[in-house]
Amino acid sequence: MKKHVLILVAVLAVFGAVCAWAATDALVGACIYKFDDTFMTGVRNAMRVEMAKLGGELEVVDSQNKQPTQNDQVDTYISKGSNALIVNPVDRTAAEPLMKKAQAENLPIVFVNREPYADVMNAYDKIWYVGAKAEESGTQSGELIVEYFKKNPGADKNKDGKIQYIMIRGEQGHQDAVLRTDYSIKAMKDGGFELEELGSDTANWDKVQATDKMKGFISAVGIEKIEAVLANNDDMALGAIEALKAEGYNTGDKSKYIPVVGVDATAPALEAMKDGSMLGTVLNDADNQGIAAVRVAVVAADEQPVTEETIGYKITDGKYIWIPYRKVTTENYKEFMK
Ligand code: GAL
Ligand code: CA
Repeated sequence: MKKHVLILVAVLAVFGAVCAWAATDALVGACIYKFDDTFMTGVRNAMRVEMAKLGGELEVVDSQNKQPTQNDQVDTYISKGSNALIVNPVDRTAAEPLMKKAQAENLPIVFVNREPYADVMNAYDKIWYVGAKAEESGTQSGELIVEYFKKNPGADKNKDGKIQYIMIRGEQGHQDAVLRTDYSIKAMKDGGFELEELGSDTANWDKVQATDKMKGFISAVGIEKIEAVLANNDDMALGAIEALKAEGYNTGDKSKYIPVVGVDATAPALEAMKDGSMLGTVLNDADNQGIAAVRVAVVAADEQPVTEETIGYKITDGKYIWIPYRKVTTENYKEFMK
């Protein structure tokens, strides 16, 4: 009997919490660093779907990769009377003035995907960050290469016991670019391989830039020397694959194949895994990042405590919501196709 009462109390508590954000009239203003970004488009869409469920109003604007534009957009949201802000900063090192704008109005501010420095995060009590631990994705993408080399001894084409690789990095200074690069290299070393970096450059998360950079590497070192390509995201991995395809690689001929890995698990990357041109990726969970950001904003806008019970996601140090990555392999990629 007692147990039943306890369960009932628990159910009512959860129900109450769900109701706290299930019927909101909050107006939330969101800025996305640029709309022309595959992964952030996924986050943006998930935000819209979640707000439609919660009943509040969500406005989303394109900061067009310009920090001054984004600062003005935040001012506009504040003067319109928004109840909370969601910001995907253009420059994560420039998050402080945005935090201060929110603080001056006592408005909740939720940063997503580009993590402000800790001193900014600690300077205000109505600030949150929703993102993913870039280290995890770096480790998992490095492991994909290790697993491939262990299964396919012929992958060491020059039989020197080392992996000759190319690294295509995201935007300079972005935590995901720095940590994915470092941790993917660490994972290959931890996997027991010696490494030789044949080339490493930034392509700003962009497919076309990655194709250009990869073409440059191919002509500089010779395609037959390259044994693996690691890209900090899927768009760049797909860009690199374009350059390989132009040389007749990764189009089905097993003797002309270079394993390529990315991060995000975008729809085109999963298609490339299906057709065999891409080895693997790591799910960067756009849906859960978008949902979590909107829930935090709405709960805080409604002046409810932001807790695991009210938002449905674990919170670290009172302000960080970390959404886990998942390794996507040739065995499980179908689970991730929508
Ligand atoms: C990363 C993502 C990239 C790009 C970037 C934008 O997390 O993997 O594809 O969207 O965020 O900040
Ligand atoms: Ca080798």
